[in-house]
Amino acid sequence: MSNVSIIGLGYVGLTLSCVLASKGINCIAVDSDKNKLQLIRKGNIPFVEPSLDRLLTSSIENGKLKISADIERAVVGTDATFITVGTPRNKDGTSNLSHLKAVCVSIGKALRKKSRYHIVIVKSTVPPTTTSSFVKDILEKESRKTVGIDFGLVANPEFLREGSAVSDTLNPHAVVIGSWDKKAGDQLESFYKKIHKDNKPPIVRTNPSTAEIIKYANNAFLATKISFINCIANICQHIPGVDVQTVASTIGLDPRIGSLFLKAGPGYGGSCLPKDLDALVAFSEKRGYSPKLLKAVKSTNTQQPHITVKLAKQLLGNLKRKKVSILGVAFKKDTNDVREAPSIKIIKQLLREGAIVSVHDPLALDQIRPIFNDKIRFAASVSNCIDSADCCIVVTDWDEYKLLEPKDFKKMRKTIIIDARRVLNSVKFAKNMKFAAIGLGNPNTFNNRDKGK
Ligand code: UDX
Repeated sequence: MSNVSIIGLGYVGLTLSCVLASKGINCIAVDSDKNKLQLIRKGNIPFVEPSLDRLLTSSIENGKLKISADIERAVVGTDATFITVGTPRNKDGTSNLSHLKAVCVSIGKALRKKSRYHIVIVKSTVPPTTTSSFVKDILEKESRKTVGIDFGLVANPEFLREGSAVSDTLNPHAVVIGSWDKKAGDQLESFYKKIHKDNKPPIVRTNPSTAEIIKYANNAFLATKISFINCIANICQHIPGVDVQTVASTIGLDPRIGSLFLKAGPGYGGSCLPKDLDALVAFSEKRGYSPKLLKAVKSTNTQQPHITVKLAKQLLGNLKRKKVSILGVAFKKDTNDVREAPSIKIIKQLLREGAIVSVHDPLALDQIRPIFNDKIRFAASVSNCIDSADCCIVVTDWDEYKLLEPKDFKKMRKTIIIDARRVLNSVKFAKNMKFAAIGLGNPNTFNNRDKGK
């Protein structure tokens, strides 16, 4: 497998293309969006992803990465094809497989023209059984060939995060190879062993449906951890002097729990966790099992942005005509992605309550402009956003917000700060102003006798 094609150039596909090219693999990266291809050909990335631009430029320059709109030619000219198209959410929560279907039809047609064995690798997040029924059926019908004999088929989910897509692709915590046929699984295993010869991640060999559910279980568990700690945070908030961060870091010391993904906040967003949880719930319900735990994870997350607004109301009394500044709209730091960002729900509720909203974000303002247009004010700097405000809410964990000091808020009309991300030093802030934070029992009324030490 020294020549591969990658179909679908979103975060997963473009990052995979550049990483494989940087490892000396000849890659043909394909997408149907002509504007996107034009950008990529010039070395530009159609989204924000640290260090990917450097990798893209060097991969194009050294000739290892070719960009194309022609799936069939790409498949015919390579040994294996990674499918990395999006599987967006349908209205009922199920995964929309229309892009996958269109791509499989083209791959099938290309396979018909090929005499050599070819491996088709499904990297897109798809519901269990999709690879071994939906994908297999289309490929066999279009190619008039047989899986396991004329071509190989593997479900091979990825676990990369936006904002660290390159390092996650270079250093995955595991490689999951769910192969239909042993030959395809063996070839993909040796391919990954070469790619990851220095870091040697565990390689899990399984069948396609197990690989598919592993991806959903992974994301569902991460979502569960976040909703769990947010639930504990909401309880801690009612206990003066208690801070969920101490609770989280201490329970995280228990190796059965682990310290990661226990940061309380305004709820999880992004293009994956909310969508994948819905898809898993919908998949399960269609088969007659109602996954109550997962539904509670979702409803806890839906409620979480409103907890932040509730804090604002408690401190301001009434939100009508109050100036509220929002620091951060991206769903997390180091990205300009606002898909399912808690900021959007917070801003919408503030507007419903009659607040006057200004927002700042180092990267993502253009992304929310079309949602709110002239209903909110877009500020070019933090100080411009918070000056003369009645309340400031920190919604995204950008590093630059972590450096803010109480003095930076002095020009506010009322110095009421709500830290929905727990990035500010609560001791310093509570001393100087009205301060509230997710998971922090009211620091302004903290009883001295209960200080502990
Ligand atoms: C996620 C998974 O981590 C990744 O493995 C999968 O392939 C795609 O979905 P991503 O959506 O990029 O990645 O973001 P992630 O870093 O997981 O964060 C998701 C959301 O949870 C963000 O809104 C983040 O702010 C929030 N979060 C994360 C918390 O609120 N608390 C935490 O402790 C961790």
